[in-house]
Amino acid sequence: MITCVGPIFLDRVIKIDRFPEKPIKLVANGLEKRLGGPAPVASFAIKSLGGEAEFVGRFGSDDTADFLKSEFLESGIPAEKSIIVEEAQTSQSHIFEDSLGERMLAVFNEEKLINEKTLPVFDFSSNQSYLVDTNWIEAAHFVAIQSNKHQIKCIVDLDNFSNNNLVDEVVNSASHPVFSEIGLNRFTNNMPIIDALRSLYKKTQKFYAVTLGSKGVYWIENGDVFHCESPKIDVKETNGAGDVFHGAFATFIENNTTQEAIELATACASLKCTRTGGIKNLPNKKEVIEFSKQIKPSKQV
Ligand SMILES: Nc1ncnc2c1ncn2[C@@H]1O[C@H](COP(=O)(O)OP(=O)(O)OP(=O)(O)O)[C@@H](O)[C@H]1O
Ligand SMILES: [Mg+2]
Repeated sequence: MITCVGPIFLDRVIKIDRFPEKPIKLVANGLEKRLGGPAPVASFAIKSLGGEAEFVGRFGSDDTADFLKSEFLESGIPAEKSIIVEEAQTSQSHIFEDSLGERMLAVFNEEKLINEKTLPVFDFSSNQSYLVDTNWIEAAHFVAIQSNKHQIKCIVDLDNFSNNNLVDEVVNSASHPVFSEIGLNRFTNNMPIIDALRSLYKKTQKFYAVTLGSKGVYWIENGDVFHCESPKIDVKETNGAGDVFHGAFATFIENNTTQEAIELATACASLKCTRTGGIKNLPNKKEVIEFSKQIKPSKQV
């Protein structure tokens, strides 16, 4: 089982032609409700690849929570170990999106929800692995430290976080920290990418990776740095590409070498970018294996 731990959001997307110059009344062209957040989206990617996924997060006690839970139920992803914060609202984003894809986004996280101190019950038996998002830092920290103690895999999505001691400990303890470009820049104070990976490795002698969108993925293992190029694709939707990459990497690292897992995750994330439909239209294993023929073998840097 791969348990994905982190914040969950409902994105309410309101489609408009264009942004007005002043705040006026508009007629929208469409309304969409989308489940969002790195760990939940990763759990859908794992499930779509045929893996055994579970989600653990924090829900309020509102209709948003009911909708999000129904999405997990429909996909057969257990979410029952999540914390329910009574009389709190589930995190939501309201997004205005114009015909050119420009967005105005307001996210709401109720204090009552994010200040809830209760942690879920986690299982650290040997057939478990974890995927954590540092934006629920108390849970990510507990899981990373315990996974290390029990020698089980812990993949970390380090994208949009604020630096602090707990994040440092998560990065140091987890078996597989995978940064986004912004994440690695922030964590290493804007060190050049390859220097940053080497300097992290120097401290702990373990795996680190960074995803750079269309520029591919770099990783370090046993002191050597490697690069996997992203394939050239007709981009339709990059939203959530990083979340899908992490879910796919967590799936493929179970039974493959690091290089194979990075290449298959690259195939899965880039194939996802060629489609619209978010979590409703994620690649399955057969499609990923077929598409991975377009991925060039990784090179040592
Ligand atoms: N334009 C693109 N062309 C090809 N592959 C892409 C592109 N954008 C993203 N990908 C694939 O998705 C992976 C993750 O993307 P990226 O590094 O942009 O994640 P991110 O910065 O965490 O963003 P987010 O979390 O918002 O999706 C890349 O490593 C690559 O495999
Ligand atoms: Mg990301």
